[in-house]
Amino acid sequence: MKRAVFNQKGGVGKSSISVNLAAVSAQRGLKTLLVDLDVQGNSSHYLGFDEQEGAPTVADLLKQTVGWLSRPQSAAEFVYDTQWDNLCLLPASQALSQIERDLESRYKIFKLREALDELMDEFDRIYIDTPPNLNFYAKSALIAADSVIIPFDCDSFSAQAIHRLLDNVLELKNDHNPALMLEGIVVNQFNPQAKLPRELVAALKAQDLPVLETLLTSSVKMRESHQLQRPLIDFAANHKLTGQLVTLFEELEAKSLVLSN
Ligand SMILES: Nc1ncnc2c1ncn2[C@@H]1O[C@H](COP(=O)(O)OP(=O)(O)OP(=O)(O)O)[C@@H](O)[C@H]1O
Ligand SMILES: [Mg+2]
Repeated sequence: MKRAVFNQKGGVGKSSISVNLAAVSAQRGLKTLLVDLDVQGNSSHYLGFDEQEGAPTVADLLKQTVGWLSRPQSAAEFVYDTQWDNLCLLPASQALSQIERDLESRYKIFKLREALDELMDEFDRIYIDTPPNLNFYAKSALIAADSVIIPFDCDSFSAQAIHRLLDNVLELKNDHNPALMLEGIVVNQFNPQAKLPRELVAALKAQDLPVLETLLTSSVKMRESHQLQRPLIDFAANHKLTGQLVTLFEELEAKSLVLSN
């Protein structure tokens, strides 16, 4: 199962959700890979990776598809172990922005899919963190994935933008990845005491949008966990937000079983 976490809007929780779901998945004993496709490298950093000169990244993996290399390296050679059991990382790098135009003009949009399909021999779950726009890498992720999760930050601009976002995802699905499943919209930073978030979520549900049942509330622990480079299941295993992430993971696993049957 390969899940992409995508929203064109910045700061809605893509990196937080993809890393923490991946960490829960690994803790459950599933061999799990986090792929960071965002040049900001936030989820790579979150999992303890700090880019160093010469260290291979997802940019090098994609770059080797340009030109003719007699012996391209296998995708597994770009994957790092992390300090957590069962959790591996295919990190991002600054080079992603330098090579984007070249990859795009040479129609390399399916290369990530090929690489991740190869890695599925080794992994049970792959989570893909995407950049905050529908650029070449986000499209590559949506083409490579079996399903997509859309974080929603309870903001009225985001609610307005969600139809355009879903249109874009569906167009890409129809054109390039008909098997892509929309697993659902994940409500993040939900404040149950405030009226507006409750109304926004109710409005999405009234429009028959697939809003996932599990709501993620806001907690300072999330920021602390980023700072300490320790996913919540490790850093604050008994915290309420961690419990919500575990429930979200279980909801997604149950839903994907139903969707794929
Ligand atoms: N449930 C939460 N509670 C508190 N803070 C949160 C929560 N989710 C995310 N954040 C914080 O919000 C900020 C943005 O989150 P994150 O980096 O995951 O978003 P993003 O969508 O990946 O952003 P970008 O579009 O820039 O990649 C971070 O500082 C993160 O710690
Ligand atoms: Mg991010």
